[in-house]
Amino acid sequence: MQDILQQLEEKRARARLGGGQKRIDAQHAKGKLTARERLDVLLDEGSFEEWDMFVEHRCTDFGMQDNKIPSDGVVTGYGMINGRLVFVFSQDFTVFGGALSEAHAEKICKIMDQAMKVGAPVIGLNDSGGARIQEGVASLGGYAEVFQRNVMASGVVPQISMIMGPSAGGAVYSPAMTDFIFMVKDSSYMFVTGPEVVKTVTHEEVTAEELGGAITHSTRSGVADLAFDNDVEALLMLRRLYNYLPLSNREKAPVRPSGDPIDRVEMSLDTLVPDNPNKPYDMKELIVKTVDDGDFFELQPEYAKNIIIGFARMDGQTVGIVANQPLVLAGCLDIKSSIKAARFVRFCDAFNIPVITFVDVPGFMPGTSQEYGGIIKHGAKLLYAYAECTVPKITVITRKAYGGAYDVMASKHLRGDVNFAWPNAEIAVMGAKGAVEIIFREDKGDPEKLAAKEAEYKARFANPFVAANRGYIDDVILPHNTRKRICRSLVMLKDKKIENPWRKHGNIPL
Ligand code: COA
Repeated sequence: MQDILQQLEEKRARARLGGGQKRIDAQHAKGKLTARERLDVLLDEGSFEEWDMFVEHRCTDFGMQDNKIPSDGVVTGYGMINGRLVFVFSQDFTVFGGALSEAHAEKICKIMDQAMKVGAPVIGLNDSGGARIQEGVASLGGYAEVFQRNVMASGVVPQISMIMGPSAGGAVYSPAMTDFIFMVKDSSYMFVTGPEVVKTVTHEEVTAEELGGAITHSTRSGVADLAFDNDVEALLMLRRLYNYLPLSNREKAPVRPSGDPIDRVEMSLDTLVPDNPNKPYDMKELIVKTVDDGDFFELQPEYAKNIIIGFARMDGQTVGIVANQPLVLAGCLDIKSSIKAARFVRFCDAFNIPVITFVDVPGFMPGTSQEYGGIIKHGAKLLYAYAECTVPKITVITRKAYGGAYDVMASKHLRGDVNFAWPNAEIAVMGAKGAVEIIFREDKGDPEKLAAKEAEYKARFANPFVAANRGYIDDVILPHNTRKRICRSLVMLKDKKIENPWRKHGNIPL
């Protein structure tokens, strides 16, 4: 028996060594942790239960029959993050460059299937040279098996991808279908075709970092939600994010009690909005001063900055925050911001997370680039997302809510549960100046008359009471009471239940 135990230990030690000390050293020299070291940081100490350590590939081409390494380039299993279950896979770049073989894919599929059965999220740590070239189509088949599971799991269990090395070609599409993508600066990149192919086809010269590095994807393409400085920071932040999320669509997010009083009054909010309606202010100040302990986990902070999205807690309960940012493009909705917010609202809706919307929006961004880019369809995504959303929806209009953008931003008409406005809010078809220039076009040459009409329009429409008269706004609230009023509304909405009509699926404008 002693022999057998020793053999087992030797087999395990062999698997743990992955591609060998030399390759582990090379991984460290790049500033990267190994697959197993990453899991040590991500998971609660000692909680990892590894599966399929002894799996090997079945390829016999190109001398591969004599080149087998147990675990086959991916470490899989489950563990805990702050005591809550999570399934994980972590690709091992030291083994065949983390390339995906048929067996490697089967290991990933196995934990995804199990996660679906028990209702727990899947986190993938990606560090891979792509399809295992020696295996050809078997490896491509493996990818597609993973993709299919990504789609089936979408909206059922949260799926998170952390890109910690290469992710190219087909390898990008599994992360692309997960709920969140995080990247590590300088050591990770994602692209469909690499710099060499780009050069051949389009004659563009671009480095891997420029084409698909963490900065590119978190600022230009919007593919990545956040970019971190190194592996350890990335994994610790992932643990933080995890605390906001429910394990599945059958559960509510965990409640984290806070010492922050739900009736905390924040007097400084009374002067947050400047008197001049054209002067911007920082909407993040309102968010931070409203949520529990000022703790806001922002997503995509460097992309489409005219809208802010992220998680926070109110009275301990996870909420999703969506807010126009007047500091950028005056808070206009455009293509990128509509898509950014729409996807976030849909995530919250799928996973029972109430959505709180802070509105200061002068409208949709005008211009040919927006129209040619399809703002009609992309703006409609946000409208669609809010309209189909059945979780509690609380909206606070802090200043402008103009035109179609008023409708879109979780208005009463889109089944907003509680719609508040601050006393200085302007809920109208457009700003007074623009409105007067259209209605009184014939008085173009008479600035005095126009000024009088503008003042009249302002007095009549640039306030929250026209909307409140009709019940489109449930109450006009004092800014300093915003936190208290939202927290009370959340208590009232705790057991909200509405259902959309049965259908196979809707057809969101894509
Ligand atoms: N299939 C099989 N083995 C692969 C592989 C793949 N797709 N990608 C990398 N490897 C192996 C390499 O042969 C090398 O093996 P070795 O350690 O025995 O020498 C090891 O992984 C590390 O790769 P290396 O090229 O030395 O690392 P790098 O950091 O210099 O470059 C890549 C990383 C990913 C840029 C490079 O390996 C690459 O271009 N791989 C192919 C990518 C691809 O075209 N994939 C298929 C399309 S999806």
